[in-house]
Amino acid sequence: MSIKIANEINTYLSVGKDEQEFIGIFAKSGYGKSLFVESLMEEYSRLGFKIIILNDVKDSIEMGFAMFKPRKKYHLDHLRKIGKPIETKKVKIFHPFTFNLPNSKIPDFNIYGFSLKNLNRNEWSLISESPQESETIRLLLNASNHLGKSEGIYSFLHGIEETVIGIKKGKSELKANPKLFHLRITPSTAKGLQEVASYLLPFQRDYFLLPEDSELQLDWKEILNDTSSYALFTTKYIKDDKLKQFCILSLLEEIVRNIDYAKKPICIVINEIRFLTPERCRGFQEFLANAIRKRLSVLRNMGRGVSGIFDSQVWLDVEQSVKSSFTKNFFGELASANDIEKLSKALKYRRDMSDKLKHMDVRNSYILQGYEDEDPFVCWFPGHGHNEPEFSFYDEFKKHFPERMKSYKGLKEKMKKKFSEEENKVKEKIKRRERKSREEKERLAKEKEERADKNNEQSEKSEQINQLKGKLKEEKMKRVWEIKQENPKLSNRKIGLELGLNHVTVKNYLEKYQENLDKEKEGEEKVDFEDKVLSETKVPDEKPLLGEDFELPEG
Ligand SMILES: Nc1ncnc2c1ncn2[C@@H]1O[C@H](COP(=O)(O)OP(=O)(O)O)[C@@H](O)[C@H]1O
Ligand SMILES: [Mg+2]
Repeated sequence: MSIKIANEINTYLSVGKDEQEFIGIFAKSGYGKSLFVESLMEEYSRLGFKIIILNDVKDSIEMGFAMFKPRKKYHLDHLRKIGKPIETKKVKIFHPFTFNLPNSKIPDFNIYGFSLKNLNRNEWSLISESPQESETIRLLLNASNHLGKSEGIYSFLHGIEETVIGIKKGKSELKANPKLFHLRITPSTAKGLQEVASYLLPFQRDYFLLPEDSELQLDWKEILNDTSSYALFTTKYIKDDKLKQFCILSLLEEIVRNIDYAKKPICIVINEIRFLTPERCRGFQEFLANAIRKRLSVLRNMGRGVSGIFDSQVWLDVEQSVKSSFTKNFFGELASANDIEKLSKALKYRRDMSDKLKHMDVRNSYILQGYEDEDPFVCWFPGHGHNEPEFSFYDEFKKHFPERMKSYKGLKEKMKKKFSEEENKVKEKIKRRERKSREEKERLAKEKEERADKNNEQSEKSEQINQLKGKLKEEKMKRVWEIKQENPKLSNRKIGLELGLNHVTVKNYLEKYQENLDKEKEGEEKVDFEDKVLSETKVPDEKPLLGEDFELPEG
């Protein structure tokens, strides 16, 4: 047991260095959970843990108030009472790159991105809302594996396109779609590509899936070992909930991937964990919850100093297996009767305990699960400032560190250029491809034409040859016949010898020629007859050639 409670003043609670704790804090909104989380962070930090705050639920940089001193009377009174010194912390604020960053000056954030090449099954599963073992995930993983060091989202999608279209027919016919990363998508290409591309569309605006060699990559070696400051991750300027949550998951993945760099124990903080791993989830949340749960359990079981602090307004809303990974649970006042009822039932609390969950005698006090026999434990406050409802982090920051206010206009322009460069590269590629396909088509058409011409020429030639051959044959036949006429006694063999023909051919020629002559003669006779008839017919002079009075000659 590394959390010790003592009811005497000044020794409220302490956390142990050697044991891993996953601490769950449950209480209604406004009860003081964040104050509690902040003082636990302070404790862990004092023990040399690196504090990593993975989310910023209200986009208000709430945990960033650790950089400022407390000002509220209730807060200062409390610190005085427990004899805790006022103490501020260094906080490094991290934000993923997005074109949505304002042009005006804001507090200095560390703008970062994730490497597309590094994304794993969990992350792709969340982005594409597909089960981990699906074809889509295989496609995505394969494409990210083959991505070059300096290739980004365009190359990534076009890599997938090549895989998908490579196996389809008629690829040159497909037109690139400028609205979808210039991809060639038709109903006949895999539905997967279209879906994947549309899931990646928001990353055009929130441009933080970057090439491996991007200078915006997080330096985990530095982050994990710099225990002099808190690392606070916010997604204030990312609007899409799915993308916000994707960042949290990706950060968890990166921590797991880089944990070996950590020479110090780390403490992970997730506020309102019910949003990430809700008890009932739909759509992409299912993939997110699964992945977060898995990663938390990996960290939980790592066997080296990884602790966690998690809070939630509602106990019921946090996914069961996540709750069961918590090693310490603190319950303050809960808002809903249903929550109190279910929790009491699960922990076999009697009436007096349920009543406490409804109303605590002392403000900021919590029941510690397993120590219900003792009085509820009163949480202590952080030595640094807290985000009071009327405070604004930006105003506070500007007041304290005017010189550290910064504009990201330049960075945005630089990223815009990078984005356009990538887009142009792809456009160039498409132009080249289309030109090539056009040239190929023209070439094929030309080839076809040439082939047709050649065929024509050839058939003309062969006709001429045939005609020539026919003529020669006719002449030979004539010659054979003439010789036979001149010397009827001459044998076919002798005639053949003279003309270089064999006697059968001579015989055939003679017969054929005779046949032709006979046919000719017959025709001549017919013509003669007709001529005769015509010449003997008298046409009357005065009468019109064609008319009623025209008489056909008799005969
Ligand atoms: N003991 C107290 N005395 C006076 N005000 C308090 C006390 N505890 C908490 N508060 C007020 O309640 C607010 C809510 O605290 P917070 O930790 O943000 O709650 P939660 O995270 O549970 O919503 C604080 O900002 C503070 O103004
Ligand atoms: Mg809170």
